[in-house]
Amino acid sequence: DKNVVPQAPEDPMFGLMAAYRRDEDPNKVDLGIGAYRDNSGKPWILPVVKQADELLRRDPNLNHEYLPISGLADFTAASQKLVFGEKSPVVTEKRAVSYQTISGTGALHLGGLFLSKFYNPPNAEAKTIYLSNPTWANHNQVFGNVSIPTKTYPYFSRETCSLDFDGMMSTLKSAPSGAIILLHACAHNPTGVDPTQDQWKQIAAVMKERHLFPFFDTAYQGFASGSLSRDGWAINYFVEQGFELLVAQSYAKNFGLYGERAGCFHFVTAPSQNAQDTVSRVGSQLAILQRSEISNPPAYGARIASMVLNDPKLFAQWEEDLRTMSGRIIEMRKALRGKLEELGTPGTWNHITDQIGMFSFTGLDEQQVGVLREKWHVYMTKNGRISMAGLNTGNVGYFAKGVDAVVRE
Ligand code: LMR
Repeated sequence: DKNVVPQAPEDPMFGLMAAYRRDEDPNKVDLGIGAYRDNSGKPWILPVVKQADELLRRDPNLNHEYLPISGLADFTAASQKLVFGEKSPVVTEKRAVSYQTISGTGALHLGGLFLSKFYNPPNAEAKTIYLSNPTWANHNQVFGNVSIPTKTYPYFSRETCSLDFDGMMSTLKSAPSGAIILLHACAHNPTGVDPTQDQWKQIAAVMKERHLFPFFDTAYQGFASGSLSRDGWAINYFVEQGFELLVAQSYAKNFGLYGERAGCFHFVTAPSQNAQDTVSRVGSQLAILQRSEISNPPAYGARIASMVLNDPKLFAQWEEDLRTMSGRIIEMRKALRGKLEELGTPGTWNHITDQIGMFSFTGLDEQQVGVLREKWHVYMTKNGRISMAGLNTGNVGYFAKGVDAVVRE
């Protein structure tokens, strides 16, 4: 019966979160959703966010009026500077239009919706977005919802637990001219494996030659290299090469503003005589799309981020907080690898410390992940990804024992 709405499966990520919460085992370990935890396994409010929050609350002029359709102007301007750098021609030549969005997901959606309506490559088959295999599961749904067909490019080699660079390059070389390529700017989710700068250069060269359209997802700036600007390197290399490109930016992880949904979408046009005109036309259409979907974005998270991004002292504190998070994650990588090597767990475990960002792609298969959940009360995604931030000095030994047991089974 066509009138019966079919039952859809539960979202894997949020399903995992709910299952973990229901589990009453005292040893349970949550390595599922990518959200930072402190060493006692608790959510961490960044000290700089606490400071900004107190300052905001003291502001007698604060009210609950609507933001403009494009969001808080101080926030979107600061977001441009964070991604592209203050001196970037994107900023100085005003070659970007930026819209505040419902975090990174909202930015991907707004970009996808814009492409679905206005992107018309000469070859209609090129109106396809290529996603890395594997990628963040929601990428498929977000672009599917706006009827942009998705394809994949190879990204990760299960044999070497590292980048399948040749596979990626050969797919890019054969993609139809004009196809859209979704790239993770840094700290690839779920694998924790990024191209080197030299590999990025080769990727950009092929994409330029093939007229491929880059769409960057940047959700982990500040988590990869320890430097905000280095984490933005790939995007800016593409800018230097003269690409027109899109960026979806999330502040969920690097500000710990998960539920506040602060993010930004950037459209960057290539250098040209008509750049201003292009930016203006694109912006006018984004306004209609945004207005019809969310009217205008939520204020709180953007106000917090904006206050920090626009104040040098708070900005320095933020960098310190980022180092606290990425530093603890690096410690946990070392600890986990160390414990597995101590136990003599079959296999090699160097990839755990080689990979970067919030996640590690362990190499465990779906069946092993299932046993870890049933017997050990460890929650992680079926593809073998763990959120490193769920590990701490209290549970890393227990987790390593569980991995050792399932690998030997
Ligand atoms: C993740 O991959 O765990 C995060 O990006 C959270 C999410 O929304 O899936």
